Amino acid sequence: MARIRVLPEEVYSRIAAGEVVERPASVVKELVENALDAGARRIEVDLSGGGLTLIRVHDDGEGMSPEDLRLCWHPHATSKISHLEDLQRLCTFGFRGEALHSIARVSRLTILSRPRERDEAHLLRVHFGREEEFRPAPGPPGTTVTVEDLFREMPARKAFLRSPRAEAGRVLEILRLMALCAPETSFRLTQEKKEVFRWPGGSRKALLSRILGVSEKDLQEKILERKPYRIHLLLTRPEVALGTTRYLFLLVNDRAVKDRTLLSALLEGARAFFPGGRFPAGVLSLYLPPHLVDVNVHPAKWEVRFREEREIYALVRRAVEGAFSRPFPVSPDFRRSSPAETLRQEYPEAPASPPGHVAEPRSPGFAEGPFPEERFLGFLGKTYALFETREGLLLLDFHAAHERLLYEGLCRQVPESETLLFPAVFELSEEARERLEELGEEIRRSGFRFREVGPREIMVEGVPRGGGFAAVEELRALLEERPGGPGIREQLAARLACRLARKAGDRLSPQEALHLLRRIRQEGLSRCPHGRPLYLLFSWDELEKRFGRKV
Ligand SMILES: Nc1ncnc2c1ncn2[C@@H]1O[C@H](COP(=O)(O)OP(=O)(O)OP(=O)(O)O)[C@@H](O)[C@H]1O
Ligand SMILES: [Mg+2]
Repeated sequence: MARIRVLPEEVYSRIAAGEVVERPASVVKELVENALDAGARRIEVDLSGGGLTLIRVHDDGEGMSPEDLRLCWHPHATSKISHLEDLQRLCTFGFRGEALHSIARVSRLTILSRPRERDEAHLLRVHFGREEEFRPAPGPPGTTVTVEDLFREMPARKAFLRSPRAEAGRVLEILRLMALCAPETSFRLTQEKKEVFRWPGGSRKALLSRILGVSEKDLQEKILERKPYRIHLLLTRPEVALGTTRYLFLLVNDRAVKDRTLLSALLEGARAFFPGGRFPAGVLSLYLPPHLVDVNVHPAKWEVRFREEREIYALVRRAVEGAFSRPFPVSPDFRRSSPAETLRQEYPEAPASPPGHVAEPRSPGFAEGPFPEERFLGFLGKTYALFETREGLLLLDFHAAHERLLYEGLCRQVPESETLLFPAVFELSEEARERLEELGEEIRRSGFRFREVGPREIMVEGVPRGGGFAAVEELRALLEERPGGPGIREQLAARLACRLARKAGDRLSPQEALHLLRRIRQEGLSRCPHGRPLYLLFSWDELEKRFGRKV
């Protein structure tokens, strides 16, 4: 029988540290929050080795007195609250006095800090939880925190991290999010001494338009005030919808959160305006008195709890509906293919099913036409279409089948290009830019049209037809990752095909299902681009054996 043992402080404080500092991006988040709490107007972050070798955050905030500096990394050392009731009046990002302690436990931490009104800075060094050095040192006003060898003594945690590139990508994401929280502050991020993000400070709308690569005109703004709540929305118009909710940022009193109530209210409000699995991108910020929200429910403060959740849900939903209800002009050259249109262009002979209509076979023999060897029987669950064929019972995975056909089409010919209504501008890391230089021609042959508009910025003006913003996202992701395996065209084709193909659960008419089956059989295709089978066949022979009619 196990015996209960109280863990030594050494052990439990490292366990607790893991909850706050999960990866380099969480360290950056904590340090940037501290800088913002110190009133910084300029924040610079340097990264090396994806943050595992070095993270440095410099701010021009109020700095720390030598006494505060010496204390700041101790557990529960905070200048931000002193009484329990202060939690109800919280206006700072930090309040637990835990972040620096957690970081100090799992890295070599150096803090150089000088209060604005003093001439001298002080330097503190703490290595894996032990103070090593504390002395006066020259330094600029503000605070510079350096974190080296993160998780060096925690191989288990290191094993869960992704490549330095991927971790660096997360840092960039977090920094953009922090900039959205405090857009008037200027931010700069360098990776291996190269600048990858710079924001000079300005309006949230301007920053969001840069992050999303859409013009400010494409952002629908709405403010709804219903005391004691205020909601400020900045969302892309339906023409620039995305196929993902990844670019919806939620802020509560300017703190970035992940919250189901807010997200589902937003999506519900937007649903009527964004049909067919498309979503707006942008920022929802909710302002409310601090006593109506508990921010102390998640170790990294990603979650919050609202006192009046239902009221907030209703309000957000109404605000979002209101934001899109007014008519707005759509440029005449705008033409975006819905997935159904894409499919029809693929299969011109397939009759269109009325929008919003879940097609059901009228009778079992309904789909019997010029090819009597295939008879559509119905749908099984959300993923499969069933057919009677000459060989037996056939189950078709229609997403996989559509994906494979799109893939073939994209690989084989030069796909037609569609002009984006709003060209997308995005920043590339140095490596991605080099890759673009090398692979540019191949990418153009995939139907993309783009040009460089800055040292590391490109503007995408055209994408393979039907690809829309999803294609831009895929291109960006592919350039940022290191492409290996087959050529870039094949990789782009595989990613795009997966994004554009009918998803399991999409509405498909029997005719469309039948045409899909016929096309893949005509072309002799049996596997999707990922290698999974497109269909399973239960032969008459096998069925009869299983039913014991045949031995
Ligand atoms: N960049 C900075 N500039 C000025 N003071 C700082 C800075 N970073 C930390 N401090 C001081 O050190 C204290 C401890 O920081 P730490 O992040 O550990 O705790 P916190 O911010 O109070 O709470 P939390 O753990 O919730 O972040 C802060 O309360 C603040 O007084
Ligand atoms: Mg803090």
